[in-house]
Amino acid sequence: MKVVVLASGNGSTFQALLDNCEHANICALVTNNVNSYALQRAKNAGIPYSVCKHDQVQLNTWYHQPDLVVLAGYMRILTGTFVRRFPNTVNIHPSLLPKYKGLGTYDRVLSAGDTVHGTTIHWVVEDLDAGPIIAQESFPVWSNDTVEILMDKTKDIEQELYPKVVDKIATGEIPLRSPYL
Ligand code: GRF
Repeated sequence: MKVVVLASGNGSTFQALLDNCEHANICALVTNNVNSYALQRAKNAGIPYSVCKHDQVQLNTWYHQPDLVVLAGYMRILTGTFVRRFPNTVNIHPSLLPKYKGLGTYDRVLSAGDTVHGTTIHWVVEDLDAGPIIAQESFPVWSNDTVEILMDKTKDIEQELYPKVVDKIATGEIPLRSPYL
């Protein structure tokens, strides 16, 4: 299964997919940020990449002919047109959805005094962070946790969980949302 990853930032999630996916074929990176470290990671790994503005992301994704699109810190909202063209698109969001859609989740968790936090992998729909949930994993929040601590813990579980889920989609253990186009 050909997987194209979309990322805008550091790319540690992209790196975890590159390092740990055994069945999915990560065939390209598409980024809207020429300065992203994700781009450097693609270069280091010899993975084909495209750098483009957000309004060209559908065209650039299409160019790599993916069976599955994996969002890994892609910091723009995809259009309805994109989602209809690539219904098999997954995202990872650092909260226990439906709680805390959008940005600033760690601050919001701490302000609310939540005792549990975690991450969610979901199919992407036009509405932000709203598609059907594929997997979630949680951990306890301690009273002296900070934003940095929560982020580190969340990224640790994300980087273990996301490659496993992407591999399960690649093997068919988790069915595609929509048949191959
Ligand atoms: C991850 O925590 C993910 O949940 C969110 O964006 C972050 C990406 O981090 N969607 P990185 O750029 O992969 O380090």
